Amino acid sequence: SRVVKLAVIPGDGIGPEVIAEATKVLDAATAGSDVTFEQTAFSLGAGRYLETGDTLTDADLASIASHDAILLGAVGGMPGDPRLKDANIERGLLLKLRFALDHYVNLRPSRLYPGVPGPLAEPGEIDFVVVREGTEGPYVGNGGSIRTGTPHEVANETSVNTAYGIERVVRFAFAQAEKRRKKLTLVHKTNVLVHAGGMWKRIVDEVASEHPDVAVDYLHVDAATIFLVTNPGRFDVIVTDNLFGDILTDLAGAVTGGIGLAASGNINPDGAFPSMFEPVHGSAPDIAGQQIADPTAAILSVALLLEHLGLDDEAERVTRAAREDIAERDGSTRTTAQVGDAITARLRA
Ligand code: NAD
Ligand code: IPM
Ligand code: MN
Repeated sequence: SRVVKLAVIPGDGIGPEVIAEATKVLDAATAGSDVTFEQTAFSLGAGRYLETGDTLTDADLASIASHDAILLGAVGGMPGDPRLKDANIERGLLLKLRFALDHYVNLRPSRLYPGVPGPLAEPGEIDFVVVREGTEGPYVGNGGSIRTGTPHEVANETSVNTAYGIERVVRFAFAQAEKRRKKLTLVHKTNVLVHAGGMWKRIVDEVASEHPDVAVDYLHVDAATIFLVTNPGRFDVIVTDNLFGDILTDLAGAVTGGIGLAASGNINPDGAFPSMFEPVHGSAPDIAGQQIADPTAAILSVALLLEHLGLDDEAERVTRAAREDIAERDGSTRTTAQVGDAITARLRA
């Protein structure tokens, strides 16, 4: 029998609430199978920082890295908390993990499940995946400010794009397209960001020549937001940079029934480091502690985790149980735990 070492980082706000349901579902999905998940919980996030002053120590990182995979809820404290003024939990914890573990693919599937009330009048079929670059772009922290706090302050946040970094994520995106409907859309802003955009475009064109059966198109990011609302069915695989991908995937979550359903994987396809699965949403301080957060995004992230580990049957069962639950919601108001229990019950049935 196989043992999977799983690092679990519930985090802040609704993170622990949705992760409690996700691990419940994971346990049910693997009960009686020949795979066992050995879970180690890591207390990290704004809460840990306020207690100890640590964001992510070298020892934490080494310990997390020794696991086979990671499940994360969400991190980030109450907005405006003066005690967090000098901390940056997002950079110091979440991005540090993505960078240190070389999660160069941020995989964010978007699907409109049957029965989901979305905001679009005529959504049509929606089933696409955003392959968001995860280790470069404006996220790298290559910036600084001078004359800070004066009227002459200058603040720079330089986007870093390497041919190596783009090519590897573009290759992953083409491989996804080959497995799906064979359509790939590059989203960037080549009309303005000519240097980085030009390189993205060139590399996509080069890799495209190795995939003659994949239809490739290009959209500027502003136009992409139009089509995500007016014709989301036109998308199959979207490949894009770190920041554009962040923005597009919240929008994609909204058009497919809400951010509470959107799952993601931060993937190191080479397998050199553990991949990390998490909902697209954040710690939602506005609803934290009320048991009203939707745990489905975290639960569907468990399905992505299972699939990544090659546990396709278990992944499929979790997705199906979630999909069946979603189809029967019709506006019912259940607590976070009730949703988790309902999905778990379907798995045990
Ligand atoms: P958010 O995603 O936390 O919340 C945006 C809106 O969506 C809020 O109204 C929230 O109530 C709602 N929402 C989010 N998840 C939901 C769920 N599961 N069910 C129902 N409603 C849900 O984004 P934000 O408010 O911009 O960020 C809050 C904090 O989370 C910030 O500190 C931010 O940096 C952090 N954040 C962390 C992650 C992460 O850890 N992966 C991701 C995004 C944001
Ligand atoms: C996400 C979040 C993160 C991001 C933040 C919290 C660093 O918004 O996972 O989408 O921008 O990637
Ligand atoms: Mn985001």
